[in-house]
Amino acid sequence: MNELTEKLTFASGATLKNRLMMSPMTTQLSFFNGVITKDEINYYAERAGGVGAIITGAANVQDIGKGWPGELSIADDETLPRLKELADAIHAKGAKAIVQIFHGGRMTSSATLSGQQPVSASAVPAERPDAEVPRELSEAEIVETIKAFGDGTRRAINAGFDGIELHGANTYLIQQFFSPHSNRRTDAWGGSLEKRYHFIDSLLKNIFEVVDEYANKPFIVGYRFSPEEFETPGIRFEDTLYLIEQLAKSRLDYLHLSLNHYERMPRSEKYTEKSILAYVHEALKNRKPLVGVGGIRNRKDVESVLENAEIAAIGQQLLVDPTWAEKLLDNEDSKFVTKPFEEAIHDLDLPVPLYNFLVERYQSIVNI
Ligand SMILES: Cc1cc2nc3c(=O)[nH]c(=O)nc-3n(C[C@H](O)[C@H](O)[C@H](O)COP(=O)(O)O)c2cc1C
Repeated sequence: MNELTEKLTFASGATLKNRLMMSPMTTQLSFFNGVITKDEINYYAERAGGVGAIITGAANVQDIGKGWPGELSIADDETLPRLKELADAIHAKGAKAIVQIFHGGRMTSSATLSGQQPVSASAVPAERPDAEVPRELSEAEIVETIKAFGDGTRRAINAGFDGIELHGANTYLIQQFFSPHSNRRTDAWGGSLEKRYHFIDSLLKNIFEVVDEYANKPFIVGYRFSPEEFETPGIRFEDTLYLIEQLAKSRLDYLHLSLNHYERMPRSEKYTEKSILAYVHEALKNRKPLVGVGGIRNRKDVESVLENAEIAAIGQQLLVDPTWAEKLLDNEDSKFVTKPFEEAIHDLDLPVPLYNFLVERYQSIVNI
């Protein structure tokens, strides 16, 4: 098992002081133009004690990639001064600062995009109520989008972040290129499994070029992915094993498996013996550190995750219990918040947009 308090040095040379990260969680607290608010900076700073790194909620790299109102943006240089304040505030608490960069693709709406039609790999809507039909990106636009991820990386470097995480999970644009549901292209960017990986491959090449050109200290590049899709056609666990093989050969510092619970089993009938996390860890064969996540609330959960991952990411527990990581490291487990999240959010003084977002989110989960 990986030891919670052990340091970890990534391939880039950056070192995490322990095996805890705050999982990326959008707060919906940014201004209308994506500039981060003081409330949002305080929110992250309050949670940065103890953890090795904070990963911010998703930040869009292009205006057309904005997924929801209140989202953090890294699409323009005007976002830089406040992003720098955020990186400084996280550093002041002793944690590394990683910004998650993304593009919503078809998982947005023309209302969020001020009337513009969402874009994706192909003109296929998501399978969810009220999903809009996206416009298929032209080849020139795909190249521009890849460049925008590079520009976002350059801004993260300039703002003083220690790294970026590519959000290749949770059905957003990067995943949309890899998915046979959203990618029906027949050109160089779609068709076979290999061609559906082409976007990710080009993205990584561009990002490492930017890192080599602009970073003057080790800069972390991580990649988050979701293991399976529900749609047919859709990403199956076998596709994910192919993705892992490709990512394992890259310069990435870590892979981050997006899961709602670390014990979740694959849907595929061929993989019935262990959890998704255990299968992915085994497939990686120690070629990259793996970040495990989902449902961590106490020490036992951290230890279970660290049996099949090098790093444990904590989302909602840190949201409702900002000093949880410090309590864990100080052996003050009896002070952990143990209430259900939907109850615990009422005990905190959360900024109003975040509070309303969480109330709605927990209500919709309860109603499913
Ligand atoms: C309010 C909220 C916002 C989230 N936003 C993001 C996000 O911006 N990017 C992302 O990759 N995952 C996001 N997630 C998923 C979390 O990172 C995490 O994978 C999930 O909550 C499971 O971990 P947990 O049980 O520790 O919360 C979000 C989750 C929540 C609850």
